[in-house]
Amino acid sequence: MSDAVAFTPEELKKLDAGLSELLGHYPVDRKRAAMLPALRLLQEIKGWCTPEGMKHVADKLQTTVERAYEVATFYVMFHTQKPGKYVIDVCTNLSCALRGAEGMLKHLEVKLGTQAGTNGDKFFLRETECLASCGTAPCFQINEDHHENLTKEKVDKLLETLV
Ligand code: FES
Repeated sequence: MSDAVAFTPEELKKLDAGLSELLGHYPVDRKRAAMLPALRLLQEIKGWCTPEGMKHVADKLQTTVERAYEVATFYVMFHTQKPGKYVIDVCTNLSCALRGAEGMLKHLEVKLGTQAGTNGDKFFLRETECLASCGTAPCFQINEDHHENLTKEKVDKLLETLV
C-alpha cells in the first residue's frame, strides 16, 4: 500500500484483478450489487476509499460514483478520507457504557492526546455503535482487530504496541 492518493501501476493491477474475479460471481446486469466487496477491496489496497478509486470501482460496476459514495459513507468501516494509521473504534453503547466505556474513552483521549472524532496522522479515535461483544464489555477495535474485557492496564499495554 502506497501513501499516494493516485494508484501505482501495481495497485491498479491488483484492484482490476480482484474486481474481475469478484464480478465473475455476479450476473452481468447486476454488477453494482458487488459494491460492498468492491469497496472493501479498494480499501484493502489503498487504505481508504480514494476519490480516484471510487470512480474506478463505479465504472467497473457500471454505476455512478455517487452510488459508490452513498454506500461508502453509509458504513463506518469505509473511510472516504485518509484515516490515521490506527483507527480505534470504542464502543460506548449500553453494555460497554455500564462497564466503564466512557472512562476508557477519556483515558484514551488523554493518552493519545486527541479527542474522539478527530482524525490525525497516527490515530483516529472514534466512538462506535455496539460491536456485538456485549458479554465481554468494554471493548474496542484497533484497525478491525477486536479487543475485549478491557481495563486501563490492558489498554495501556495495547497502546505500547502501536508504533
Ligand atoms: S454494547 Fe458494546 S459491544 Fe455491545
